[in-house]
Amino acid sequence: MVSPLVALTPKVQSAIAAVLGDDFREVDPVLRPSQFADVQVNAALALAKRVGMPPRDLATKIVDALELDGVCDKVEVSGPGFINLTYSNDWIASLLGEVDTDSRLGVPVQERENIPIDYSAPNVAKEMHVGHLRTTIVGDSLARTLEHLGHHVIRQNHIGDWGTPFGMLIEHLLEVGEDSEEAGLLLTDPNAFYQAARVKFDTAEKAEPGGSAGDFDVRARARVVKLQGGDEATLAHWQRLVDLSKAYFNKVYSTLGVTLTDEDLAGESMYNDELGKVCDELEAKGIATVSDGALCVFLDGYTGREGKPVPLIIRKSDGGYGYATTDLATIKYRVGELHAHRVLYVIGAPQALHLNMVWDTARKAGWLPADVTPVHIQIGNVLGEDRKILKTRSGKPLRLMMLLDEAVEKAQSVIDEARPDLDAETRATIARQIGIGAVKYADLSVAHDSEYVFDLERMVSLTGNTGPYLQYVGARVRSIFRQVGLEPAAQHAPVVLTEEHERDLAKRLLDFADVVVAVGAEYEPHRLCGYLFELAQSFSAFYENCPVLKAETDEVKESRLTLSALVLRTMVTGLSLLGIEAPERM
Ligand code: ARG
Repeated sequence: MVSPLVALTPKVQSAIAAVLGDDFREVDPVLRPSQFADVQVNAALALAKRVGMPPRDLATKIVDALELDGVCDKVEVSGPGFINLTYSNDWIASLLGEVDTDSRLGVPVQERENIPIDYSAPNVAKEMHVGHLRTTIVGDSLARTLEHLGHHVIRQNHIGDWGTPFGMLIEHLLEVGEDSEEAGLLLTDPNAFYQAARVKFDTAEKAEPGGSAGDFDVRARARVVKLQGGDEATLAHWQRLVDLSKAYFNKVYSTLGVTLTDEDLAGESMYNDELGKVCDELEAKGIATVSDGALCVFLDGYTGREGKPVPLIIRKSDGGYGYATTDLATIKYRVGELHAHRVLYVIGAPQALHLNMVWDTARKAGWLPADVTPVHIQIGNVLGEDRKILKTRSGKPLRLMMLLDEAVEKAQSVIDEARPDLDAETRATIARQIGIGAVKYADLSVAHDSEYVFDLERMVSLTGNTGPYLQYVGARVRSIFRQVGLEPAAQHAPVVLTEEHERDLAKRLLDFADVVVAVGAEYEPHRLCGYLFELAQSFSAFYENCPVLKAETDEVKESRLTLSALVLRTMVTGLSLLGIEAPERM
């Protein structure tokens, strides 16, 4: 099962070898999209100099050697030496027939790799904000896609569940009571809980010792020491905080329909016992040195202002460990215990320096061998209409849950207006699918490292490059099949191509596998979005111009039904790789 490009490549390579000899059998034939044909071969231009032949002459020789009977209708040398190939309709139809009989729609199963993916990673007792929205959605889509390509994906939700703030958080939790309404804030408005603890701490710290503000700050500090020392009662309170936050994260995950579960939690606390060892090992290997009381790693190439070296601090002068130490233990674990072939980090773009320093240190220490590739999938900002980082009117970070509720409400009004004939329950289900799908699609359809403006109105629109527009294509195909009482999954009649719009659609369908492979290789879900949008447009043009149920003959009708069923399967599969549901009707 192969795509046109994959099928053509060896054929063109054989022709090149026939002209230039066996040494040239493996060269890249440089197949590119063409404006004038289905594909153009640029090999002659690429090789002319090397073999000392005018490119047009070389192109002509290659064309003479090409064996494309039944594959191409037209083979032409054009311009300075391009070779333009036009596929025959029968060839397209036969390739599509193979896709149709393949449950994977031509998507290959790749050699299995272990791929830990670090994504979502919110912080305990803090709000999940729009930044976490993106790493969650992009990471989940990559996890789904790589899994679909046959890899062993190991989701690693590196939650922030350790560190100095836990002293004040635990003390606050004890004061308000673990089952109090205040503690309940952790499930609905965690920032409010965090802020209350912070205020207590800051007030006590500023006040005179022994004054009315009490000794909250002193107790909070002592609590951190107890926590790090493994005091059992303290750990139990800490666990309570983490559990409440977990419930909150899980509510967001199930609303969003992301695949993360408790099994995937691998937070900072998990590495606590390793931090001392990481420091000792780096010091023993001479990679870390003490500077101003802190244990630091100085790496070549990392300098700040006036050429001063920037250190990676792994143990502070007070003996505490930080974010970098944890991430060193993390990469060690992912390579050593999870046997990673690639390690993906779906994290905000500003953390690039941090990650590079961690990886370089790990390489020096021998924890990150050259055949393991770490990748930072950089996440850009989500902006408000003022083009600044999305915030509430009062300037607070936006609560994710509120945003999602609003999206579903907006979708509800769209579907209420479009389909008053459906019952309320059905409309509510569709509204949820559209609203959440809209937010996810808007997020995934821009390159993960660029910014975008969060505009709910546009996101839930049924027209344009939106999630609902793609969902609608699926629903429309289903409705065609409902009209004639047929099952799309059972529709496999042979495809015959005569009209231009049929041909375009068929070609588009053949591209799916290559796009999925590219998403897995380049970590760019927006390519799949772009592809599905083009597929939707090709389908719309086909549907407007080529009657399906009123086709001139039964053979044509059956063929068009098969094309439509393939659009549905491709759309549903593609959307599922993005983590977007496909409503039955809209
Ligand atoms: N908890 C961090 C944050 O909210 C993200 C952690 C990302 N993962 C990592 N291995 N550093 O910004």
